[in-house]
Amino acid sequence: MSCPIPPPATAGTKHDRPTPASDEAPRTGEDDLVRRPDATGTDRSTAPSAPPRPTSGTPSPRAAVLAGLGTYVPPRVVTNDELAARLDTSDSWIRTRIGISTRRVADGEATVDLAVSAGRRALAAAGPIDIRAVVLVTTSADRLCPAGAPEVASRLGLGTVLAFDLASGCSGFVYGLAVAASLITSAVTEPGGVLVVASDVFTALTAPDDRLTAVIFGDGAGAVVLRAGEAGEPGALGPFDLGSDGSQADILHVPGGGTRDKKTRGSGGPVRTPPYLIMDGPAVKRLAVDGMVRSARRAANASGRSIDDIDLVAAHQANQRILDAVARELGLRPHQMLTNIGHVGNTASASIPLLLADSAVAGLLTPGRRVLLSAFGAGLAWGSTTLVWPDICVVVGA
Ligand code: UT7
Repeated sequence: MSCPIPPPATAGTKHDRPTPASDEAPRTGEDDLVRRPDATGTDRSTAPSAPPRPTSGTPSPRAAVLAGLGTYVPPRVVTNDELAARLDTSDSWIRTRIGISTRRVADGEATVDLAVSAGRRALAAAGPIDIRAVVLVTTSADRLCPAGAPEVASRLGLGTVLAFDLASGCSGFVYGLAVAASLITSAVTEPGGVLVVASDVFTALTAPDDRLTAVIFGDGAGAVVLRAGEAGEPGALGPFDLGSDGSQADILHVPGGGTRDKKTRGSGGPVRTPPYLIMDGPAVKRLAVDGMVRSARRAANASGRSIDDIDLVAAHQANQRILDAVARELGLRPHQMLTNIGHVGNTASASIPLLLADSAVAGLLTPGRRVLLSAFGAGLAWGSTTLVWPDICVVVGA
């Protein structure tokens, strides 16, 4: 079965028209790719068969099941050399210390625009599922008020469905999956599904002259459609391991723009700070390794298995050194830790869906593989879960 092509952009969504593939050498997640065949003419998207249906006997517990995946990255590629031209940094420092060669940067598009583009692809990938809720996962909202999810729902033609934002930094996608799964299993969205879109434009939050944060982040969005299903079937999510530590809120935060900023008075009157990210990089790095390792183990154990039973790990793409350390601690072989940070950078909440899509399109993530998702970031907050990769469509592009 072939995967559907997303419909062309409609009024109000002019930024997300899929563009033809470029003539340059293809790299997954970096191209204008919508189910583009590879050089051999083979369709590199994953093609679905009909979703497996439970056989007779005692019904399994209800679960939220992954039904489609779509992503969008803005077309503008920013190289390390471009950053080094204005900041005291270098291509070799960024490659060696973080593992990033290029990242995508939004130009003329904001978080909701990216979310709509990714959401449209996920809907096309999932096929005809009645969407009853939209969860927009973001920590770089277009506006403090209102939430962006209703606008995403409206622009996608989903009408007046339940829609809200969820902000949990780089762990937001896993939190979003957990919340969406609970909407499904508690029958709030019965008999339909949920669209979870993780979209972040963190380059808008990085101070132009801060070499520490400017080199790490890129922009992007990834979306999944979840449907109701059975706990034992491929694509079923969970159990989840979720946690937080607010005592460390200050090591990764954006001080300006919120109520604390406006209501805190120093001797000279209101203190106003720019809405730029402040990060204690080494501290976050140390806590991230420990946090993801522990959370990953708990999620694997909660599913009745151990890390040894996991085929592939899709972890938040914060820094290649963090990924290498997590892989070492978990005893993974190199190929088990999926990575795409080299060409998209750290895309905050969008990181895991972009990674899953790139890995699926590249043929590394195939149906039947047992995958562990794990993320850690601002809050502090972390989350992990497991699933068996289902036979679904994946639609990616710029
Ligand atoms: O996604 C949400 C969660 N975020 C993360 O997980 C990010 C976690 N942190 C990191 O990934 C890393 O800490 C960074 C990439 C932010 C920094 O890498 P690092 O290896 O921890 O570097 P560092 O901060 O310990 O700095 C090492 C050196 C310092 O110079 P000295 O004091 O040794 O002379 C820094 O001033 O590297 C210097 N440095 C840079 N040099 C060139 C820091 N940033 C840069 C830069 N270019 N951009």
